[in-house]
Amino acid sequence: MFRVSNFVVGLANTLVMLVGASAIGYSIYMFAHQGVTDCESAIRAPLLTTGLILFVVSLVGVIGSCFKENFAMVSYLIILFAGIFALIGFSIFLFFVTNKGAGRVVSGRGYKEYRTVDFSTWLNGFVGGKRWVGIRSCLAEAKVCDDLSDGRVSQIADAFYHKNLSPIQSGCCKPPSDCNFVFRNATFWIPPAKNETAVGANNGDCGTWSNVQTELCFNCNACKAGVLANIREKWRNLLVFNACLILLLITVYSCGCCARRNNRTAMKSDCA
Ligand SMILES: *[C@@H]1O[C@H](CO)[C@@H](O)[C@H](O)[C@H]1NC(C)=O
Repeated sequence: MFRVSNFVVGLANTLVMLVGASAIGYSIYMFAHQGVTDCESAIRAPLLTTGLILFVVSLVGVIGSCFKENFAMVSYLIILFAGIFALIGFSIFLFFVTNKGAGRVVSGRGYKEYRTVDFSTWLNGFVGGKRWVGIRSCLAEAKVCDDLSDGRVSQIADAFYHKNLSPIQSGCCKPPSDCNFVFRNATFWIPPAKNETAVGANNGDCGTWSNVQTELCFNCNACKAGVLANIREKWRNLLVFNACLILLLITVYSCGCCARRNNRTAMKSDCA
């Protein structure tokens, strides 16, 4: 007798196992290779952990459903149940920490500007202290400001002001608008005469701006805020993904319960 629920659980877990295996493979590759960038080294440990968890859990699921091994199936269902709850909790948490932090519209500009105070305290901790040093060099490696340094946008103030910059570019590649800097080109700005500078505006970002092409506003608070806006946007998308994943896991869980019953009553087929 062919059992659909065993098949569904087996198939879903085989796919997850493959995903887990590739994550493990890729992170080992990154650990083994010299000269990985700061950006890559930041993700390899979490990637390895995620890969291992996915691999082990889905392996238990496969053993439970394909080999009709009831102990494995029960363990799998318990892990899955806990996983669904953890994911729901995590999503609620994500929802609240990403609630605050909309960008500010600047009049006459195609981009928004961001301030760290507009984000939740928890999210701010994410770019605080030593961690910022790593993120900053990762941003420099990723050459986030590069597409502002050629073409019309790089030379013509009006074209620059109307460009829709990404949050990171808005924060890290130009001085904040309140500083009233004069545009020379996209990566070179001239400070206004002393009495026009709003002292203390933007947490001192006006003084932090540097025309040294490798520094720009990478040390500005606005740059941290831009990174936070970017994280917030990604996590908001992750919320949608999580909602779908939760539905999928509940489906797999229901099938898993059926498969478990099938395992027990190997002759009867009371559920598909
Ligand atoms: C911007 O202006 C500065 C100073 O005039 C110059 O050194 C730099 O090469 C210019 N950069 C671009 C991309 O035009």
